[in-house]
Amino acid sequence: MPKKKKPTIKVCTGPCCAERKSKKIAKRLLEEIEQVGMQDNVSVKKCDCVGHCKEGPVVLFPRSALAFEGVKPKDIPKVLRKIITAME
Ligand code: FES
Repeated sequence: MPKKKKPTIKVCTGPCCAERKSKKIAKRLLEEIEQVGMQDNVSVKKCDCVGHCKEGPVVLFPRSALAFEGVKPKDIPKVLRKIITAME
């Protein structure tokens, strides 16, 4: 049986988002995923500019058509909760 692919959370690390610390956002997101024990269910990938530079840092969850803009480290638990709810 083919292995089911994990849905991916994308964190834009294009120039504008990177300047607004999106790499830190990606790292915090991974830590939070591990903290809630979801590491086998969802992955995090950095991606290039998604065209919303003014609203960065941008986090996307394409599987559920979710987009989060202006994400700050303190928003990570809330963002992840919304993603997990959308996966249920
Ligand atoms: S650099 Fe992130 S949306 Fe453009």
